[in-house]
Amino acid sequence: MSVLEQTASQKAIDLENKYGAHNYHPLPVVLNKGEGVFVWDVEGKKYYDFLSAYSAVNQGHCHPKIVEAMTSQAQKLTLTSRAFYNDMLGDYEKFATQLFGFDKLLPMNTGAEAVETAVKLCRKWAYEKKGTPENEAKIIVCENNFHGRTTTIISFSNDPVARKNFGPYTKGFIKIEYDNLAALEAALKSDPNVAGFLVEPIQGEAGVFVPSEGYLTKAKALCEAHDVLFIADEVQTGIARTGKMLAVDHENVKPDILILGKAISGGVYPVSAVLADDAVMDVIRPGNHGSTFGGNPIAAAVAMAALEVIQEEDLAQNANDLGILFRAELNKYIASGSIVKLVRGKGLLNAIVIDDHEESDTAWNICLALRDNGLLAKPTHGNIIRFAPPLVISIAQLLDCVSIIISTLAQFEKEI
Ligand SMILES: Cc1ncc(COP(=O)(O)O)c(C=O)c1O
Repeated sequence: MSVLEQTASQKAIDLENKYGAHNYHPLPVVLNKGEGVFVWDVEGKKYYDFLSAYSAVNQGHCHPKIVEAMTSQAQKLTLTSRAFYNDMLGDYEKFATQLFGFDKLLPMNTGAEAVETAVKLCRKWAYEKKGTPENEAKIIVCENNFHGRTTTIISFSNDPVARKNFGPYTKGFIKIEYDNLAALEAALKSDPNVAGFLVEPIQGEAGVFVPSEGYLTKAKALCEAHDVLFIADEVQTGIARTGKMLAVDHENVKPDILILGKAISGGVYPVSAVLADDAVMDVIRPGNHGSTFGGNPIAAAVAMAALEVIQEEDLAQNANDLGILFRAELNKYIASGSIVKLVRGKGLLNAIVIDDHEESDTAWNICLALRDNGLLAKPTHGNIIRFAPPLVISIAQLLDCVSIIISTLAQFEKEI
């Protein structure tokens, strides 16, 4: 190819830049194929995927069982809306409620929609069951949370990039420090109209912050003592990512409301869900909530297949075991180098913190070098790089990735 000729990658990037809104800042790599832990770019170069579409592709790219469930359902019936029943939704609801141990499931499509659903459900429960005066319900949230991008959700974010110039903001949220039980207790005591506590069991987007052991158990107990719903956003941490089916399972905590998304579909289709027992979910009546696509037959077929794959392939155990190995290997490197301050995480949701100031572009440059060396990852915030491969990764593949990561980091040691 002459130097003047554009690569296929550059053409695709230019098209997106010209015709697409600039609401993302992607790493410059253009993918057109995926299988298991691997993706390929349009020039045919193969990479390990260490982002897994923000943990949506836990089962690996294009898992044959999930793709088969989708394609065969797509040839039969795709969408009925909820104006009529379809013959897949009930089976899926039964399967998922039994698997996660709840009475009922409310199907939606994206993570943010499911969080919105949980917020509405919690407020309605407060007015109809707890006796909260109308329009007074409050939900406690945590600083540095990430629950999505809708108007209400960004109203309780403290990320200036997500919030600035999107006001006026939705009221009714109290923000407290994450992993701070005293702050939670004080907030619960300060206002009798608190209805819920919305929390990520591990803060993923913020940079994979794992709370202290016992935090979730004690937070749940505090909520119970104050007649407040404990709402777990497991959109990123759920579906085996952290080494258990749910991250709350590490502490045997059962949320009052469970929010799922991303990998509940194996990344082949947008599926999300809110689960609760009847005492909470029965406040929802026809017309209160819904979505044209929520609970469609393809989503139901895909989600059942995706959850079965997690069980059949024992992906929670694999995530747990390989996560331990990953952190151990990285810690060995950290002990001998200086570019990485620490590695943290649970299961295969991990991050490294680069020893540089938060606004530096070192983490971004490391991700560019990782790409050149055949591994795709992205900074979450500033100097933090998240590592979250598909959970089908083998030990040999993981060790191969560790050596790519370590040799790439070593390149940067010399530069500092
Ligand atoms: C914890 C959490 N909640 C909600 C969301 C929003 O999901 P979606 O992007 O599907 O709206 C995300 C996405 O990263 C998330 O990590």
